[in-house]
Amino acid sequence: MALRIVTGSDNAGYGHKSALKELLENDPRVESVTDVGVGGREDGELYPNVAVAAAEKVAAGEADRALLICGTGLGVAIAANKVSGIRAVTAHDLYSVQRSVLSNNAQILCMGERVIGLELAKELVKVWLDLEFDPTSSSAEKVDAICAYDGSLEQA
Ligand code: RB5
Repeated sequence: MALRIVTGSDNAGYGHKSALKELLENDPRVESVTDVGVGGREDGELYPNVAVAAAEKVAAGEADRALLICGTGLGVAIAANKVSGIRAVTAHDLYSVQRSVLSNNAQILCMGERVIGLELAKELVKVWLDLEFDPTSSSAEKVDAICAYDGSLEQA
């Protein structure tokens, strides 16, 4: 299934965000890319506002996933997770990126431009696109427990 992906960053993550957005736009596994900002290094929009805007699109079913970049990848994850139904993770290594979908059914991947090199980030994003949660796996009841606490049973 081709993915509809939202991208977003603050100014600290703008460089990686732009490059990864271009990668996504040229990947046949991606149906659409919607960027929610920022528009440049001079754009001072705060990372929580960008992250929540992206997460709301995913939660509303307007997008399947989001890729968020800030300086560390931490703030955008914290903010995105405030949106009901969202599971956002910060991951900079292969195993964590894989498990974020396979174990946690996370819809949002967050990275830090000041933490990870661009080439490694690109490789991880390419892997991320192929990952799919198995609702019959033993992880499902754990994700269901998160959703139950959250008040949302949506696992998209
Ligand atoms: C810069 O504002 C930095 O704090 C931000 O990009 C992010 O790393 C926060 O978590």
